[in-house]
Amino acid sequence: MSSQNSDPILIRLQGIQKSFLSDELETRALDEIQLQIRRGEFLAVSGPSGCGKSSLLAILGLLDSPSAGSYELDGQRVERLDNRARALLRNRSIGFVFQAFNLIAELTVEENVALPLSYRKEMSRAQRRSRVAEVLAQVDMSHRARHYPNQLSGGQQQRVAIARALVGRPSLILADEPTGNLDSRNAELVMQLLKDVHAAGATLCMVTHEPRFAAMAQRSISLYDGHIVADLPTADRAAPQMSGQAAEVI
Ligand SMILES: Nc1ncnc2c1ncn2[C@@H]1O[C@H](COP(=O)(O)OP(=O)(O)OP(=O)(O)O)[C@@H](O)[C@H]1O
Ligand SMILES: [Mg+2]
Repeated sequence: MSSQNSDPILIRLQGIQKSFLSDELETRALDEIQLQIRRGEFLAVSGPSGCGKSSLLAILGLLDSPSAGSYELDGQRVERLDNRARALLRNRSIGFVFQAFNLIAELTVEENVALPLSYRKEMSRAQRRSRVAEVLAQVDMSHRARHYPNQLSGGQQQRVAIARALVGRPSLILADEPTGNLDSRNAELVMQLLKDVHAAGATLCMVTHEPRFAAMAQRSISLYDGHIVADLPTADRAAPQMSGQAAEVI
């Protein structure tokens, strides 16, 4: 399922600013950001180091709140929610994939992947276990379920991180340079997984420095100095192929 112009808006940012104060010095990481993302869209975000990409993802992912402006997520104003409400919404609706994988070293693969489900009181233990097994199979990591992160290669760790992002069936997946620490073969594998996830219906917003991966998105925005300086459909507009397994999961 690729995003169509008629699809409803999932994300609406208006006049978003983000400033950081340190040693009485103000850094404006984001300035007057206007951005709409449709449900089911695959958006790539690029731009030079320090231009505000991670700051934008942190706000989209409710990890941080903007200094000014409004953020509507799925019809709900979320920029002023308190920490608890933000965490709850984040847990239900958003999955993250980071460049540095960010798995918890003391937990096994399956415990890492199960973590987002620990807040789902409506799921039984058996349901959680079966859901974890399902996403581990999707990323082809079932055979390493009892391993610890430091026993895995980088590519394997990122596949586990993707499983963790998917396990709660979030409507929005945010990926911040998900291939940044991977060799080209593993980067291709991770991109294929993310494409499958998008093809199965998720909205995907991905920061990348790699033009060939940005070209896999339907739309690409460029940031410079906290501003959106380009917002264009990508050349590669072919509808993504639905992968059978991913389609069942999302
Ligand atoms: N917690 C913070 N405190 C102070 N300044 C910050 C903080 N986080 C980010 N910044 C500043 O905000 C600006 C944008 O940072 P951001 O991390 O969003 O950039 P980026 O585009 O993700 O860069 P990169 O490609 O290097 O990851 C930078 O100038 C950075 O120094
Ligand atoms: Mg960054």
